[in-house]
Amino acid sequence: MAVTASAPGKLLLLGDHAVVYDRPCLVTAVDIRYQASISKQDDSTIEIDTPELRQQAKTYRISAQHPGKHYTKETAFVEAAIAQVFREYDLQSGLSVVTQGPVVSYGLGSSSAITVAAVAALSSLFDLRLDKAELFRVAYAAVLDVQGTGSGFDVASAVYGRTVYFVTGGATIEPLPVDSLPFVIGYSGEKVSTTNLVGEVRKLRERQPAIVNRMFGVSREIVDSGKEQLLNGDWSAFGDLMNLHQGLLDAWGVNTLQLATLIAAARDAGALGAKLSGAGGGDCMFAVGDGEKRVAVEQAVRDAGGEVVDVALNAEGVQLL
Ligand code: MEV
Repeated sequence: MAVTASAPGKLLLLGDHAVVYDRPCLVTAVDIRYQASISKQDDSTIEIDTPELRQQAKTYRISAQHPGKHYTKETAFVEAAIAQVFREYDLQSGLSVVTQGPVVSYGLGSSSAITVAAVAALSSLFDLRLDKAELFRVAYAAVLDVQGTGSGFDVASAVYGRTVYFVTGGATIEPLPVDSLPFVIGYSGEKVSTTNLVGEVRKLRERQPAIVNRMFGVSREIVDSGKEQLLNGDWSAFGDLMNLHQGLLDAWGVNTLQLATLIAAARDAGALGAKLSGAGGGDCMFAVGDGEKRVAVEQAVRDAGGEVVDVALNAEGVQLL
């Protein structure tokens, strides 16, 4: 019998990039969900079927003895999840894995969501009873095995869901009692390589360590204050903090003309704050669009060439279906 788990994507609110360097961030889960359905097979083969492979009418097969040796692009995160669980819990089995999820996810969906869904499904299938902290640890190790870098904020968001205060590597994972978030999300239409942008900021930090480290300290202050304003529902103060953080991201060179255009348009339409989300270089920006201003902010983002992404925020974390 197949076990199915589903996990959400994420929107990084504050702390982008600095969270790679032992600073905190705030992240909310978005209701763009990824599913992994896994069942045991008698033979010694692991079969993986993903939306991308289905589009190409392909299925991917590997030996159950060697998952995780050489990752293939379309299946890397699922394979890494299986390899990590087998390694840690001394397991081996033939498997059939089917994943579902949007192929286009605006940079909000994440490889981490599919990894977390796969680890949760395996935990249930082999009766490992992993709690949230263990799911995070195992899935984060799998993600690092594929990507090499990453703070793990997206893994924590996929596991815990809702809105989380997070410090690098899961040093702190604090779920926040937030009810609703009044953000408008705009997609720039540009695709991003997170690894390249993280590398660019790392090089800038190597060239200017004192200044960039001090700016990472400012990011921490912004995030810590942002946590209070989120809990207070003070969107004016939170908007100020978004604008201040955008200043840091501009200085680190990860803004683009298109993102800057969407951010300026949202602010001109009355948004109390607007910034890019994540690595930069494209993907999404978001703006405070509370109350009556929401419609005007959405229209401004569209008029400036962006696509408004209509998705629920503060979504539930990983679930067994
Ligand atoms: C990328 O979505 C966010 C970064 O902070 C990298 C990370 O935290 O892993 C740039």
